[in-house]
Amino acid sequence: MNPIDIFRNDVLAGHVAVITGGGSGICKGIARAYASLGCDVVITSRKQDVLDAAAAELREASGREVLGVACDVRDPAAIAGVFAKAIERFGKVDTVVNGAAGNFLAPAAALSPNGFKTVIDIDLLGTFHTCKAAFEALKTAGDGLIVNISATLHYHGTPLQIHASAAKAGVDAVTRNLAVEWGQFGIRVVGIAPGPIGDTEGMKRLAPGTVGEQARKRIPLGRFGTIDEIAAAAVYLRSHAAAYVTGEIMVVDGGDSVASPMFVL
Ligand code: NAP
Ligand code: COA
Repeated sequence: MNPIDIFRNDVLAGHVAVITGGGSGICKGIARAYASLGCDVVITSRKQDVLDAAAAELREASGREVLGVACDVRDPAAIAGVFAKAIERFGKVDTVVNGAAGNFLAPAAALSPNGFKTVIDIDLLGTFHTCKAAFEALKTAGDGLIVNISATLHYHGTPLQIHASAAKAGVDAVTRNLAVEWGQFGIRVVGIAPGPIGDTEGMKRLAPGTVGEQARKRIPLGRFGTIDEIAAAAVYLRSHAAAYVTGEIMVVDGGDSVASPMFVL
């Protein structure tokens, strides 16, 4: 069963979401779930042709309008432009999902300063720029929500991932800080920390071949997660069921991050 099917099909009616990284992978799954449950959606990433194809696919699947607007989240003016276009088209934005990210495997000793900086710029600064660009719109719309997609890499020392671990630790800090600063404006700020999710660019890059198989064996639930399982968490967090949830980072990882590496059952 698709976990999105348990939600009433108008549960997100009236909301308008901007989703960074929404043209592919996990965040396209969130965009699909949001649109299919009544939310108007704007997806953004760097490539307009990828966005156009994704928006057409999501429109077809949901029967709702989905807009694709290209931008690089490292450019504050460009992401501000996405919000301007979203408001022009839909009248408001009350929801933001920060999923744009870049990653690769690299040993710290061989990683160039620009390699480290590039991932920090996309994941951490990109999240900050997007939150700032969204602030006035979220405050005006009321019932505002930011969902920051992080990871569980930084819960332990993860080899070959110093850049992404540092970036995602920063993203979790942004989530907690903004939840405290912006709660007074009716804006909730939450995170989702996915574990290994099958059929994604992230898993292709970070756990190729047998590495992925070894990782799977360590997961208490015995399998990788699915894109729809992350999307279901994002729907819950946007819904009224989560109206008193802010500053929380929801780990969706099949128990991976709490399992001791000493004992593999
Ligand atoms: P993905 O499909 O590659 O998603 C990343 C998205 O970010 C792409 O759409 C990419 O599009 C966009 N992007 C990259 N750089 C950008 C930039 N500078 N400006 C704007 N957009 C940019 O990978 P995914 O595996 O689904 O990952 C989605 C999110 O989940 C990421 O935040 C990732 O860290 C997180 N996550 C994934 C896993 C996993 O197992 N896959 C686990 C934990 C956390 P363009 O390249 O076209 O710009
Ligand atoms: N190993 C080590 N360093 C790497 C690298 C790798 N596999 N890939 C890129 N870098 C370094 C580059 O060498 C460069 O540093 P330098 O100037 O010192 O040589 C720096 O990172 C920037 O590379 P560049 O290709 O110019 O960056 P970009 O902005 O075009 O692309 C990336 C960003 C590198 C993150 C790219 O992989 C990307 O666009 N990813 C998006 C999709 C993705 O990663 N999805 C998974 C999400 S979990």
